Amino acid sequence: MTPDLATLIAAAHHAKTLACAPYSHFRVGAALLAASGKIYSGCNVESSSFGLTCCAERVALFKALSEGEHAFERIVVSADTEELCSPCGACRQVLWDYARNIEVILANAKGATRTFNLRELLPEAFDDRLLNRE
Ligand code: THU
Repeated sequence: MTPDLATLIAAAHHAKTLACAPYSHFRVGAALLAASGKIYSGCNVESSSFGLTCCAERVALFKALSEGEHAFERIVVSADTEELCSPCGACRQVLWDYARNIEVILANAKGATRTFNLRELLPEAFDDRLLNRE
């Protein structure tokens, strides 16, 4: 049975508690639902070399891809902010590359949510259609 939205939101909230964010103290959790029905969660993982930090969304996506999943339905992004936390540009691009038609649901700890299609968050996206492939 496909997990419902409440289950996915709960998974994102839980993933947030596992965030490795000793530098920013900004905790983010993500829960990605694959077409298989499996949920892949992720939290942000920071490095002392700050640029090596990986966001929760990409951790979740990379976990799923590395387990052979290639079809995705929705991703929930959870942060403890009043204002909903929207994926950064890098995550939008990588999600576009691997999960173009995905629904992106932003959620905070107070129960507020907002839903977007990824194409709304990344209009006029760059992608492999522009690459020369021989
Ligand atoms: N971060 C995420 O994990 N996802 C987002 O959507 C925005 C930002 C992380 C990266 C870094 O560890 C911290 O939040 C502050 O930028």
